[in-house]
Amino acid sequence: MDALECIKTRMSIRKFKSDPVPKNILMEVVETAKWSPSYKNTQPWEVIILSGAAKESLSKMMLDLLEKGTEKCPDIPEPGPWPKAQQERIAELVQSRKEKFGIDLGDPKIIIQAKKVNFNFYGAPHAIYLYQDASLSQWSLFDIGLFAQSLMLAAHASGLGTVPQAFVTDYSREIKQFLSLPETKRIVLGLSIGYPDMEAPANSMRTTRVKTEEIAAWVE
Ligand SMILES: Cc1cc2nc3c(=O)[nH]c(=O)nc-3n(C[C@H](O)[C@H](O)[C@H](O)COP(=O)(O)O)c2cc1C
Repeated sequence: MDALECIKTRMSIRKFKSDPVPKNILMEVVETAKWSPSYKNTQPWEVIILSGAAKESLSKMMLDLLEKGTEKCPDIPEPGPWPKAQQERIAELVQSRKEKFGIDLGDPKIIIQAKKVNFNFYGAPHAIYLYQDASLSQWSLFDIGLFAQSLMLAAHASGLGTVPQAFVTDYSREIKQFLSLPETKRIVLGLSIGYPDMEAPANSMRTTRVKTEEIAAWVE
């Protein structure tokens, strides 16, 4: 698969086969992602890969916190309100999920259900958390975003599926305790990773993109 095809065919995967991914393949994905660029080559990213009982325990912890109504405390605050253009794109995504799956992400009850599926890492055999020192600047957040995309592309090129998940950072404080990370770190993103189940309806919807002319201009 060439780079252009890899970028254009990556999509968020929300149903996985249960087969575990060999450790060396997951490490190769991380090894590839670390070649991402970063501000002054600071490489402001750290990674934890969870499998088996550890992943199950973390899922259970998040589900229990949700059940108890524990206040969420993500290290990266939830965004919003959104400017008009972004709000329209969110509305389109919500509408297409509703039409395709009958899931209305505007409904708070459905959001709880969606969180539960997220906290179970969509049935993936592995979860990856990306984190960095909390004292780092906005450029480092930018850099870890580049790392995240490289990781997802490397996974896709290796026949794996991923989904980036802000939801699984809801309980950042408790997640850091669970992972024995100091409070001085910030959890940036969680991802599910595994072999994609492409027969599953959950993986049958591709998102759209705005026309290139809407986001690109020429000055000559
Ligand atoms: C920072 C970030 C956070 C996201 N959080 C979630 C999440 O919590 N749960 C989820 O199912 N998808 C999540 N997504 C996936 C987006 O919904 C998805 O990338 C977007 O709709 C475009 O679809 P695509 O990835 O299939 O191209 C997130 C994506 C990003 C980049």
